[in-house]
Amino acid sequence: MHRLFNPSDVSSDGLVEHAQDATAPQGLGFFHAKEGRPLATPWQVAVLRAQAVAKHRLPEGVVLDCACGSGIQLAAYASTLQRPVLGVELDEERARASAVNLQTVAGHAQASQAAWFLKSSVVAGDGCDPRGVQSVLGADVQAVAFLHLDPARPRNSRTHALEEMQPPLHTVLESWAPHFAPSPEGPAVLLDLSPRLTSSQRAEVEGIVEAVWPGIAKTWEWTSRGRGRVDRLALWLGGIASEGVARRFVRVPASLADLPLMLSTNEDETSLTLRHHPPKRGEHVSILDAALVESGLATAWFNRTGSDRNHRWAFIEGRRPQVHHDDVLQFEGQDEWLVQATGRVVELLTFALDQSTVDRLVEVALEHRMASVKLRFDLDPAMQPILQGSLDRQLRRRHGVREGFVARHPVGDVLLLCVSPTKDEDSPPI
Ligand SMILES: C[S@@+](CC[C@H](N)C(=O)[O-])C[C@H]1O[C@@H](n2cnc3c(N)ncnc32)[C@H](O)[C@@H]1O
Repeated sequence: MHRLFNPSDVSSDGLVEHAQDATAPQGLGFFHAKEGRPLATPWQVAVLRAQAVAKHRLPEGVVLDCACGSGIQLAAYASTLQRPVLGVELDEERARASAVNLQTVAGHAQASQAAWFLKSSVVAGDGCDPRGVQSVLGADVQAVAFLHLDPARPRNSRTHALEEMQPPLHTVLESWAPHFAPSPEGPAVLLDLSPRLTSSQRAEVEGIVEAVWPGIAKTWEWTSRGRGRVDRLALWLGGIASEGVARRFVRVPASLADLPLMLSTNEDETSLTLRHHPPKRGEHVSILDAALVESGLATAWFNRTGSDRNHRWAFIEGRRPQVHHDDVLQFEGQDEWLVQATGRVVELLTFALDQSTVDRLVEVALEHRMASVKLRFDLDPAMQPILQGSLDRQLRRRHGVREGFVARHPVGDVLLLCVSPTKDEDSPPI
């Protein structure tokens, strides 16, 4: 059974889990019924994505999100594209929250009388059942101009099978394919997938898509908010795929006021190879954005930023992909956003770092006139804040002026003390 919620007259009575989205303008709060909050797309990501979709030409019709959760992405599409949206959500409380959130966004945009808002609907029920959905819409049934799908997946598991996504990809695509508005660019679809998908699972997804729309254009997109992991992995299809772009990397800025940094390529994915070499003073160590490395665009970016092509990957997996190189990175524009840390090795530390040896690190750091040293390698999570706190306390208010970090050398038990380049021209060169 499906049930219609009309965003223009829905009530928030009885809804709980109201929260300000940290990435949304002050005053824009959303409801997330039934623990929907962790599932919701951050407002800033939702808006940036809607702005990117707006660059494509879509046919007449409705924007459909057939697993819309609390409707954050749905509301961002509606207000950015200024088109009617149709959200479908299995959980009735969340479906109502979606309708209320759409009402909130329309109110915030002073668009409560706009046609796109008045013609939008949210339906509680199965998003794989177009007939059931259409049965409650009455005369308002419209062809689909664009489909967004962000399926639920098991939480707290590092890997999962595609079959665990709910609703299942193949069922959604097969059931809605006949309802798309005709378009010369092909159906426009965005699959918002788990950031943890492996490359063979990505190939499986492509197989599911090809079974429904053979030969459809595809652009994979990795999104990062610079926190050492892939935030989102999405497949842009048909009418919203970018011509000549097989893979794209998007770094979302910290501020809503800044534009995202984008890199793209049409080249085949090449895997990075580890090159281990003896630790050496004087070489440079950089820890890059993990999503940049996973997107396969790191080498192209690095070749542009580092003047030497002879770089050596020390770690390519995990939260701190680490590369060693001979020259300082040359940043242009927002390149800095893609680097967690960069610096020149000034000392090789051959002792294990623990509470009994942290003072030795302080002594060495002071010899190099360092005021701050961040620990940038995997440490016991209980020990990390203790050691970092001790370093911060001891280095503060001493004679140091430089900043830097400690990285791990990939072989042997050697830690690398690195000094970061300074922007302050009065500081001594490193
Ligand atoms: C990851 S959430 C979507 C979050 C949403 N993009 C947002 O911005 O808030 C996935 C949602 O799919 C819903 N779902 C699962 N199976 C479904 C189905 N067969 N039909 C409709 N919704 C379904 C879940 O209840 C969940 O709320």
